[in-house]
Amino acid sequence: MPDTSRLSVTHLPGPLLGAQVDLVAFVTYGDPTKDSIFKSADHALGGVLHDVAKSEGFEGKAGQSISVHTHGRIPARRVLVVGGGPRGEFTNPAVRDLAATVVQAAGKASVASLAFLLPQLGAGRETALVQHVAEGVHLGSYKFGRYLTGDDHKKPPTLASFGIVTDASPKGKRPTAAQLKAFTAAVRRGEVIAAAINHARDLVNEPAAVITPAALAADAQAIAKKHKGSVTATILDQKKCAELGMGMFLAVGQGSVQEPKFIHLTYKPAKKPKKKIAFIGKGVTFDSGGYSLKPSQSMEDMKVDMSGAAAVISSIDAIATLGADVEVHAIAACCENLVSGHAYKLGDVLTSMDGTTVEINNTDAEGRLTLGDAITYVRQKVQPDEMFDFATLTGACMVALGPYTAGVMSDHDALLKTWLNAAERTGEDMWRLPLNNRLREQLKSPIADMRNTGDRFGGAITAGLFLKTFAKDTPWVHVDIAGPASVSSARPSQPKGGTGFAVATMVEYATRR
Ligand code: BES
Ligand code: MN
Ligand code: ZN
Repeated sequence: MPDTSRLSVTHLPGPLLGAQVDLVAFVTYGDPTKDSIFKSADHALGGVLHDVAKSEGFEGKAGQSISVHTHGRIPARRVLVVGGGPRGEFTNPAVRDLAATVVQAAGKASVASLAFLLPQLGAGRETALVQHVAEGVHLGSYKFGRYLTGDDHKKPPTLASFGIVTDASPKGKRPTAAQLKAFTAAVRRGEVIAAAINHARDLVNEPAAVITPAALAADAQAIAKKHKGSVTATILDQKKCAELGMGMFLAVGQGSVQEPKFIHLTYKPAKKPKKKIAFIGKGVTFDSGGYSLKPSQSMEDMKVDMSGAAAVISSIDAIATLGADVEVHAIAACCENLVSGHAYKLGDVLTSMDGTTVEINNTDAEGRLTLGDAITYVRQKVQPDEMFDFATLTGACMVALGPYTAGVMSDHDALLKTWLNAAERTGEDMWRLPLNNRLREQLKSPIADMRNTGDRFGGAITAGLFLKTFAKDTPWVHVDIAGPASVSSARPSQPKGGTGFAVATMVEYATRR
């Protein structure tokens, strides 16, 4: 786990330029010479900000920043100005990136304390902004460095205090007690969410040799132990899954020496729950493709194929910490898709937990098999009011939407809209794809109820239609996270690798209804 406890986010009274810290930072949106904070800082520093901005071509664009020494003109040693783009972009990812940029600059300058002026993006938005900043601080300091042995990577981070100045006025008004309370709650919420996201990132970034199905089960049990009283963990082993008839799930895992584990975490609120929701995550800890073997390049990253499981497990941790008025179940059918004398084969006919028979025409379409049985388990044993699944399911979804956007499929319009609204608030990119029933033709089999793979076109949708067979009438939303679960190009709040995608929206959905 990243050590987020070392770095604390606090409220600092203004004025910004009088703060007794090592570094003062603020955001300038567009032309700095028109920005009142920039002008007053420049004035206090005797015009040096203006000179540096000019010589370095700083125009307040997103991604730009300048940093100057203060030579004792104000208490802080350094001033950092970060470009925020032409108009202030309020979205969560944009604000997270600004905060992350400040944290990373502070790290490079070996700064212990800083004062950051909350972006001035309109009254009434401060609380949400503070949460986004707190998230960005901790997401921006995330690094998966366990296996790096150089001295650089062992140095503890120097930044200990990230102070937020909420009021831009030169005098600095004192916030009211109510404002301070809202501030503290927003910081805590942001920190809890970021910690869960970073935890999911760790689970994804760890090699498959470490994050086995048993390791994921142990992680789930540790979360239940942490929230004794509100969270319980049930782990079903291979034998128990066989008794339940999970023929699809077990077939995928049978080629590996790692025993499959079916994880079921339950969060129960203290009061009678308003409703029951289930979050199901794909937990293939390594996807070789099986006998429909992936080429080496496509296999290289396939430790990420448990990103859905990592997200649903981590979300329960945050939901239990923050508290919710709904009962939340996290389900993950975890196994490895490997090749061996025990592995399942093309042409095999599997019997799923709900009795549907499936002919295998591609062992690399394994996620839908594990999820199909997980969905049936949820429908029969949990009987939720609504269920969601999160899966690195198809390359086709990335072809359709690009690497940053999740494909969302559902026949339950109202539920889908509520979900997309939550995603909009957290800033996670999600876009609807149609569950076009006509494509179901592709899943016909001459010898079984259906086959597991369609043709080339509409691959994300045929996968969704396959899952729909098992969801039946239970309100259900399918989220294909093959693209955004891990990224190969970084942004300040999101380094390369596992992203923890969907955690923020799950927490938002369950705790703010
Ligand atoms: N885990 C993969 C999908 C994937 C691809 C996730 C790239 C993340 C990045 C999934 O199990 C898979 O192999 N899907 C196949 C389906 C096909 C055989 C119908 C695919 O997308 O090629
Ligand atoms: Mn696969
Ligand atoms: Zn897979």
